[in-house]
Amino acid sequence: MSDDLQALRATLEAAAAEAADPRALDAVRVAALGKSGQVTALLKGLGAVPPEQRKARGAEVNALKAEIERLLDGRRVALEARALDARLLAERVDVSLPPRPTPPAGAEAGAIHPITRTVEELTAIFGTMGFGVAEGPDIEGDWHNFGALNIPAHHPARQDQDTFYLPPAHAGGVETVLRTHTSPVQARTMLAGDPPIRVIVPGRTFRADHDATHSPMFHQVEGLVLDRDVTLGHLKGCLIDFLRAFFAVPDLPVRFRSSYFPFTEPSMEVDIGWDRRSGAIGGGTDWLEILGSGMVHPKVLANCGLDPSVWQGFAFGMGIERITMLKHGIPDLRPFYEGDVRWLRHHGTSPLSPFNLHDAA
Ligand code: PHE
Repeated sequence: MSDDLQALRATLEAAAAEAADPRALDAVRVAALGKSGQVTALLKGLGAVPPEQRKARGAEVNALKAEIERLLDGRRVALEARALDARLLAERVDVSLPPRPTPPAGAEAGAIHPITRTVEELTAIFGTMGFGVAEGPDIEGDWHNFGALNIPAHHPARQDQDTFYLPPAHAGGVETVLRTHTSPVQARTMLAGDPPIRVIVPGRTFRADHDATHSPMFHQVEGLVLDRDVTLGHLKGCLIDFLRAFFAVPDLPVRFRSSYFPFTEPSMEVDIGWDRRSGAIGGGTDWLEILGSGMVHPKVLANCGLDPSVWQGFAFGMGIERITMLKHGIPDLRPFYEGDVRWLRHHGTSPLSPFNLHDAA
């Protein structure tokens, strides 16, 4: 290629490389290939070239034109890609951010009730440990609520639980009660099939009791794990993991204290560390009783058709209102059931807000 064409190509190449955006690049294109551009001028000038040189010169100028076009195209593609990258970066959406709670126009903001939220949270936590969810009826036969669980007639535990008895006529003469705990679903689960069993049972329970921390209707969650070699160590690990995840306190102190339930042996009450004065969970030097637990009593296994020399495991039960009040610092139980939308707006959560849990894994 002749020197003058090579020099022109170098100039245009540098100008194209310097163009920082499509508009600047377009100016380079016009200066080279536009009506009065430099390459266009060379093409127009071919007529003045002596005939014997014209063919060779014409081929060179056309080659230069093609080369400049290619060069400008390449630069344009690069600039467009760069602009797209910049835009993607600037307009990136963080899909992990919780959405802003905006109530639909004209509607009042709804909220998830704290009890519902706690049930969702504990179902999620126990779900990660492989637990399924079981349910049973609110109205139970005397046998499921007491007898199967090794609580015989006239046992003092029946008085402890302030039972609501239904009129015998209700179930054709069979004695029925409003279940006083979720434990009857232990019996129902064992009767429904052989282990391995790993379930939680969230649900309504009833006792004749009413004050700032007791309601005649409240909620419990039961847990039942049965297999050939489930031990007390499993019970402890499972409950420690659960309590730390639920209260979102990774080093929450947990204490196991021996106790008595007719349906477990040995039985343990479980306490967590807290500060009585401030109510801070995990801080301070006080202990707070939070749930009952133990190894399923061999008599309960036998009552429910399982051979206690083959199967063993643990059970636990805790009050859902209680752990909810502690987690969220709610002092009074009664408003939980009053349906006051102002209370619900204050203590409820948006359906879209993420759980406040500590990831035990
Ligand atoms: N059912 C017991 C209660 O209501 C709690 C519990 C469940 C204890 C399972 C031990 C095992 O107090």
